[in-house]
Amino acid sequence: CGIVGYIGYREAYPIVIKGLKRLEYRGYDSAGVMLFDGEKIKLSKTKGKVVDLEAKTSEEISTNGTIGMGHTRWATHGVPNDVNSHPHVSNSGDLVIIHNGIIENYAPLKVELIKRGYVFHSDTDTEVLVNLIEEVQKKENLKLGKAVQVALNQVFGAYAIAVFDKKNPDEIVVARLGSPLAIGIGEGEYFIASDASPFIEYTSNAVYLEDGEMANIRLHKPMKVRKIKDDSLVDPYIQELQMNLEQIEKGGYDHFMLKEIYEQPSVITDTYRGRLHANEGIIQMSGVEDNLEKFLNAERIIIVACGTSWHAGLVAEYIFEEFTRIPVEVEYASEFRYRNPIINRRDVVIAISQSGETADTMAAIKLAKEKGAFVYGVCNVVGSSISRETHAGSHTHAGPEIGVASTKAFTTQITVLIMMALRLAKAKGTLSNTDFHRYLQELEIIPDKVKEALETNAKAKEIAKVFKNSHNCLYLGRGYNFPVALEGALKLKEISYIHAEGYPAAEMKHGPIALIDEHMPVIIIAPKQGHYDKIVSNIQEIKSRSGIIIAVVTKGDTQVRGLADYIIEIPDTSDAFSPLITTIPLQLLSYHIAVMRGCNVDQPRNLAKSVTVE
Ligand code: G6P
Repeated sequence: CGIVGYIGYREAYPIVIKGLKRLEYRGYDSAGVMLFDGEKIKLSKTKGKVVDLEAKTSEEISTNGTIGMGHTRWATHGVPNDVNSHPHVSNSGDLVIIHNGIIENYAPLKVELIKRGYVFHSDTDTEVLVNLIEEVQKKENLKLGKAVQVALNQVFGAYAIAVFDKKNPDEIVVARLGSPLAIGIGEGEYFIASDASPFIEYTSNAVYLEDGEMANIRLHKPMKVRKIKDDSLVDPYIQELQMNLEQIEKGGYDHFMLKEIYEQPSVITDTYRGRLHANEGIIQMSGVEDNLEKFLNAERIIIVACGTSWHAGLVAEYIFEEFTRIPVEVEYASEFRYRNPIINRRDVVIAISQSGETADTMAAIKLAKEKGAFVYGVCNVVGSSISRETHAGSHTHAGPEIGVASTKAFTTQITVLIMMALRLAKAKGTLSNTDFHRYLQELEIIPDKVKEALETNAKAKEIAKVFKNSHNCLYLGRGYNFPVALEGALKLKEISYIHAEGYPAAEMKHGPIALIDEHMPVIIIAPKQGHYDKIVSNIQEIKSRSGIIIAVVTKGDTQVRGLADYIIEIPDTSDAFSPLITTIPLQLLSYHIAVMRGCNVDQPRNLAKSVTVE
């Protein structure tokens, strides 16, 4: 979910609505807004997107007021409908709350509150929390901040909340545990949001609350931050924001996803800039440099991540093992955290996350830290929870990724992981000098090759036309390109809702081959480097069962051309770096298929970009 709040001298409504649109990547099954005009609390909520909310709000309420809060929801408790949408109001009508997260013990609290006469209108855990705050406030005659604090000490779960009290309307109280919350500080105004994007045009000063902290935000007063547990005051660290407006707008592209696909050459360059010095034969990454001993003594590297980031982790497994000879395991964060994993002090855990907020990845990190492992983060969002929780790390410099289907985050994650592996290989002497230098040179020109790979766009569109009505699709690759097959299939599923599976090409014989007939498109990643002959045999096997073959091949390939129904040509590169190139036409193919099917490419159904619940 995404939350936005404003308290100041401007009209709150346009700020809140625009902010919600920027946060819609965090969930978009329902939305709501609260405005306070000095006298009345005005509420409007609806199932659907922020545009639906806008339409409804203008009919329902007058939108004036200099205090406002808004919410865009990704349903956890209760189906997406108008009633379950946030904000939620307490029984007295005085308290209003917006909440991102889950209150795990809401059920017994609800029973208790019902006994005391509270009535509930929604199925949400959030409505329980706002009434709990009200109950505490009444019983102990407390101010809002104190009541919020007492109530939060009674709940388990995760939250970023903002609470408003009509009885004391110069104030909003916010708190966080497990879900992100940024506060923008202007002159005579404050902004509240799940990330800084809703307020970057108003202020570049922001405070990111830490887990377990709450803040009283009062008009014309300095903000007070304290620990929820023991009430101790915290000196908030005011950050200067780096983001600019252009980065979060579409810039002439039809969709964020397409813009982000096309940004890849430049963001890969941004990611290696200052770190890769190909001519001098140097790779410098401060996080690795400062912790070199830990990496060199590592008996094992465990990579934890979810979704596309997990696929980047799989690519890294191949790269790290080949370059550094350190054994690597890649785990879904959600599985790792719940299976009592064996972790030793000599293990290095690498957590990969675009948003830096994924709840399961965060929990896996905490567990690994408890067991004494050194945890290294690879995150895109600076200041995110994961980048702060990890012992050290390297950021990807992809810029804000807005499209829910991850593209540029994936290739920049691989870029960081390649550099880490090369740096460690250099220190360990596991790559020859010649190979090390060759890889450095090659990495430097990868952005040009990605640019060239983007020229497959027309071809991808042409192929998309043919296959847009398929019901199934199989993606096959070997070695470094096996994770690319998984990622290709995930992209198609996510945005076009076509069922797709990725498989290691050789595993096809052990099951999926049964699916192959003249209706089954099979996308095969078959670049010249790496297991080429083997994959040609796999193509033969598909062909002899009448499957339709779409092959991604190296420019100038003749052998596969003779066998495949459709060919997508990409520039040549070494096997280890090929995922950075082969993944590009697969992103484009999914994009075009989804557009042709009339799907909402940037906001696919049921998904959210940042999954802050487990
Ligand atoms: C969600 C997103 C995916 C993403 C995954 C992990 O499912 O829709 O695109 O790969 O979370 O997110 P992270 O921010 O940790 O990389």
